[in-house]
Amino acid sequence: MTEIPRRVWLEISLETLTQNYRKIADAVAPADVLTVLKANAYGLGVLPIARALAQAGASGFGVAEPYEALQLLPLGKPVQILSSILPEEIGPMVAAGVTLPVTDLATARLISAAAVRQGKTATVHFKLDTGMSRLGILAAEAPAVIRDACRLPGLFCEGIFSHFPFAYESGSELTNHQMDLFCAILDDLARDGITFAKRHIANSDAINNFPRACQPPFNVVRTGINLHGSFDTSGKRTLHVKPVLALKTRLTAIRTLPAGTGIGYGHTYRLACPTRVGTVSAGYADGLPLALSNRGYLLIRGVPCPVLGRISMDYTTVSLESVPDAAVGDEVTCLGGEGLHALTVEDWAALKNTHPYEIICSFGNRVERRYV
Ligand SMILES: Cc1ncc(COP(=O)(O)O)c(C=O)c1O
Repeated sequence: MTEIPRRVWLEISLETLTQNYRKIADAVAPADVLTVLKANAYGLGVLPIARALAQAGASGFGVAEPYEALQLLPLGKPVQILSSILPEEIGPMVAAGVTLPVTDLATARLISAAAVRQGKTATVHFKLDTGMSRLGILAAEAPAVIRDACRLPGLFCEGIFSHFPFAYESGSELTNHQMDLFCAILDDLARDGITFAKRHIANSDAINNFPRACQPPFNVVRTGINLHGSFDTSGKRTLHVKPVLALKTRLTAIRTLPAGTGIGYGHTYRLACPTRVGTVSAGYADGLPLALSNRGYLLIRGVPCPVLGRISMDYTTVSLESVPDAAVGDEVTCLGGEGLHALTVEDWAALKNTHPYEIICSFGNRVERRYV
């Protein structure tokens, strides 16, 4: 069967991604950059993104769970699970050579036993809970737990890391306190000759807001959202990274409707005068936030066309009054574009009252990912 182009597509610029990676790597050098590609590279499609980053020089990939780790192993770079590991996942992950997080002594023992059983050495990074309160060895218990774990056979204790809940808040006391705790644990362990080749705490926000988190003793940073040219909603933006994506679709119908016509579900918009309206072939199933209803705009021929009425699952209605030459089949830019009217992930996040991560992770399944 001949392939019919999809109605809605995400254009992802691998060149911009590569430039973003280089900007991050230059900003934190000599620290290494671990690129965080969990959740299918935040929904953008993990393999093309990983290949481009590997070519750009990424030292390794960070993921959330085993399924994601296995997808990336064929690229030949170190792959590291950053969150937790369940007992039944340990054997296969040790066999595959994935770098594993140690979040408590019991996990360290299971990893050690699996490695010994398989005649292998498992590479591990100790995950410290210095204030995120999600996963990891509590700071107060860390020196004792790590000392015990380091005596176990079959482990290569390569790294130690932690995570920030407030890295977007420059000067946040908690963030500085977390780094102090981390350093105190390193000093404590060093007295017994226990040191780690890789020490990391910074995510994208910290790279922008806490230069200290990218300097010794820290020598690796983990970045996800900055690779895509986005930032958390608050906080400084010191890196000049650029958006990598544009969400596009087609104009599927044009009609002139009379004054008084109610538009879409619930008739939340009523035309004040005869209006040329366009029906655009993308809706909330594709990732358009419902919050754009009666508030956002889409770009047709570079001209902003206000959204009329409520966004539906597959379609969005816009006013074409400012773009009289619009024609059925025209390309429509829902997100992205150039110049004054460019629509950013951050604009949508503000409209939806959420953060950019949720916007990037919310593009629908039927949206084709096109790498340009
Ligand atoms: C442990 C860990 N490190 C790093 C990151 C990357 O974060 P960001 O996308 O803000 O750079 C994440 C993502 O949430 C994470 O969970």
